[in-house]
Amino acid sequence: MQLFIDSADPNEIKTAWDWGIIDGVTTNPSLASKVGKPYPEIIQEILGIVDENTSVSLEVIATDYEGMLEQARKLASIDERVVVKLPCTTAGLQATKELGKEGILVNMTLVFSPAQALLAAKAGAFYISPFVGRLDDIEEHSGDDTLEEILTIMDNYDFESAVLYSSVRDVAHVQHAARVGADAATVPFDVLGKLVQHSLTDAGLTKFLADWEASGLSLPA
Ligand code: E4P
Repeated sequence: MQLFIDSADPNEIKTAWDWGIIDGVTTNPSLASKVGKPYPEIIQEILGIVDENTSVSLEVIATDYEGMLEQARKLASIDERVVVKLPCTTAGLQATKELGKEGILVNMTLVFSPAQALLAAKAGAFYISPFVGRLDDIEEHSGDDTLEEILTIMDNYDFESAVLYSSVRDVAHVQHAARVGADAATVPFDVLGKLVQHSLTDAGLTKFLADWEASGLSLPA
């Protein structure tokens, strides 16, 4: 499973990138609004952190078809790693289809149902982003159930779109994403940090070091 960082903060992205486990970056207008820098500067900083194989999802603000096309083309022209995020609306679907003809990759965002995912796949979205956490916020497990239905639909018809598990709230969400076979999950910085943590790892390390210290042994010179 690919692991993306869900952040527009270059400091967070650089820290996670250096851990060596990041395959992509997703941003959204809310995340960008928290950074406190001009958006073009944020974009360039992010692109300067990740390597040539790493996608960076940038979202349009327009809600009409023509506006989405114009903004998507501009964002995609910044760098070949840019994937354009479009909301799952009729205008978004129509723009996804058109942009596909131009070779511009789309991440269809704000997907909350299997029906929306089906339409996004039919329109040719490169990534489909079900917001699992926001559904679970309303009703426990409903997000994970929706995700599994979406994966079944993708399998039934061999759609090429990748399912990008989004709106991750905790470690359990990431583990569920991997268990049910999501293609990727986009994870906030604080949850990424928690993925590596386990109390038995900490306790085990403390014991290993104490035993080693007590033994008087040394590593080979
Ligand atoms: C996905 O690309 C979105 O940026 C994101 O996962 C939204 O999640 P939220 O519900 O934490 O805002």
